[in-house]
Amino acid sequence: MIALSLAEIAEVVGGRTHDIPDPSVQVHGPVVIDSRKVADGSLFAAFVGEHVDGHDYADQAVQAGAVAVLAQHPVGVPAIVVEDVQTALGALARHVVQRLGATLVALTGSAGKTSTKDLIAQVLARKAPTVFTPGSLNNEIGLPLTALSATEETKFLVLEMGARGIGHIRYLTDLTPPKIGLVLNVGTAHIGEFGGREQIAQAKGELVESLPADGAAILNADDPLVRAMASRTKARVLLFGETDEADVRAENVRLTDSGQPAFSLRTPSGCSEVTMRLYGEHHVSNALAAAAVAHELGMSAAEIATALSEAGSLSRWRMEVTERPDGVTVVNDAYNANPESMRAALRALVAMGRGRRTWAVLGKMAELGDEALAEHDAVGRLAVRLNVSKLVAVGGREASWLQLGAYNEGSWGEESVHVSDAQAAVDLLRSALRPGDVVLVKASRSVGLESVAQALLETGAEGEVAAR
Ligand SMILES: Nc1ncnc2c1ncn2[C@@H]1O[C@H](COP(=O)(O)OP(=O)(O)O)[C@@H](O)[C@H]1O
Ligand SMILES: [Mg+2]
Repeated sequence: MIALSLAEIAEVVGGRTHDIPDPSVQVHGPVVIDSRKVADGSLFAAFVGEHVDGHDYADQAVQAGAVAVLAQHPVGVPAIVVEDVQTALGALARHVVQRLGATLVALTGSAGKTSTKDLIAQVLARKAPTVFTPGSLNNEIGLPLTALSATEETKFLVLEMGARGIGHIRYLTDLTPPKIGLVLNVGTAHIGEFGGREQIAQAKGELVESLPADGAAILNADDPLVRAMASRTKARVLLFGETDEADVRAENVRLTDSGQPAFSLRTPSGCSEVTMRLYGEHHVSNALAAAAVAHELGMSAAEIATALSEAGSLSRWRMEVTERPDGVTVVNDAYNANPESMRAALRALVAMGRGRRTWAVLGKMAELGDEALAEHDAVGRLAVRLNVSKLVAVGGREASWLQLGAYNEGSWGEESVHVSDAQAAVDLLRSALRPGDVVLVKASRSVGLESVAQALLETGAEGEVAAR
């Protein structure tokens, strides 16, 4: 964090200092909520969790180098005592971002937030020092912690914002008001909690409502519910997408033989070729979103194209490609799944598996409501149409719909099977995989199919099973 005295912090958060001999002492290290992450000069924010109470670790935090604790009651070591630690943390973040010279970029959407945030960060970092949300820490605690990790040098602060209901994004934009707001898509993620797609659009659109008149709203022209958000902002609108009307667009989109998207990037500043290192054509939309942000911040099409072509995957289990010593390729995309990314992942599998046997180990796509049966059926059918060699559907009812879709499309016998759980899938694959095969593993987060990918990677070259 930028250096602030305990007196100033207490004032900003409306707290009272306790056991602090010298309030002019400065916090100059990171603000943390986990006492094990305390560094010299830290401020330790004590949260009361379900299982642990941060206040019990106040002593330990100070011994490890924390200057003080942000707490809800005195703790016997230097503390700034407030009524509510989360509110105080938010107030501190708001104060700090006002003091920073950084441009704030915020993004939200139903799918692809983390992938896109990682792309934006890698592109902008070529121009100036950039701080961004680590992983998926996109909620009311992760957001202020990220903002507080910025320093005087930070020029761009890229913040992922998540929402599970109306008002959530507004809460986050009040803490860290963005100059540039990006909305990726309105899908079906958490549709149960929201009530419907219109509600999701309502909630995500709070991002563009928060933007100032001299800001920029960056909207997906290919998604009608996102595009319609143009009427909800004072900011200038910049569109990205594959349609001709988009200001930042992709032309001649294709997949390389290894399953990586390639396209011509067109921005108002010119046109330049991109071949991505990431796998799956759903990343084209994510890349265009990142390009639009970078264009808005003054980067040329050529600079952006180079950065996008060199960007890697910073977060785990998203189309993570690993070669086994025996020549089996494992594609771990077990982080999450929705119909669109399932289709993209299957197409990438087939592209990278040309001339090889391909396996799709798939589990359910969660939160599809009334669409669930039709969408699982369609994915099963697509696997057959794309000529995936083997389909292994893993889990309960939804997996059986997947397998049935494949069966009805003409995939019989051993070509498509349904197994009850991850262990059964691992057992089957261990005996059936041959050198040179390509295996895609993908399902919604709740299925936990990464265990299948991990087990496959622990299997040695001779098919020996490593200790687990
Ligand atoms: N543009 C996109 N459209 C649809 N699905 C996507 C897109 N980008 C990523 N995904 C899918 O969503 C999953 C989660 O991606 P991630 O970037 O972590 O999104 P989020 O942070 O929004 O949850 C990925 O594994 C991939 O299957
Ligand atoms: Mg995320």
